[in-house]
Amino acid sequence: MTSHDPARPVGATISHVVVPGTFDPVTLGHIDVIRRARRLFPRVTVAVAASVNKNGRGTTFTLDERVQMIREAIALEGLPPDVEVAPFTGLLVNFCKEIGAGGVVKGLRAMTDFEYELQQADLNSHMAPDLESVFVMSSPQYGYVSSSIVREIAAMGSDVRILVPANVAERLSERYA
Ligand code: COA
Repeated sequence: MTSHDPARPVGATISHVVVPGTFDPVTLGHIDVIRRARRLFPRVTVAVAASVNKNGRGTTFTLDERVQMIREAIALEGLPPDVEVAPFTGLLVNFCKEIGAGGVVKGLRAMTDFEYELQQADLNSHMAPDLESVFVMSSPQYGYVSSSIVREIAAMGSDVRILVPANVAERLSERYA
């Protein structure tokens, strides 16, 4: 017996997915996930969350700066130029509906990501049963990378060029100069 959710029609394929995040700032780990999402799906939109209350103090880079850094990094890192980047506020499920995306792709780095991601995927699925969540395993060399680690290292004046695209490394060194 197979169970079939009528919200997900049999045979319908997903052609447009969103890779969401705060990207404060974008790292090579994120770039790896975006690249792999684009290998799996013909249309990818990187959705940059305003995340105004991130960590109770907001983000280090403004929404415009984060969007701009990702656009530059996509070109620098040789990702297909058709990868789109767009800011959003409010619920991710509403943004996906607005742009007609049928799935959300996220990266899983370690078991610690799993529970959190499962919770988000469950919530999104309750709010939008036809939205699929897809996970790609982080490449091992980026398993330990996170935006806050990058910010911390940069704030101490150390080189973050092995963790982030060159344009982001430059922006960080200006910020923490
Ligand atoms: N490589 C490197 N770092 C990664 C990574 C990867 N593959 N995947 C996640 N990370 C890191 C980020 O750098 C970030 O690190 P930091 O906390 O040290 O800065 C951390 O994991 C969390 O990432 P973030 O971008 O904040 O994403 P998130 O998983 O918390 O989700 C949204 C962000 C935007 C997807 C989510 O908050 C959202 O959907 N918000 C909209 C409101 C909404 O719909 N809420 C209901 C959702 S259930």
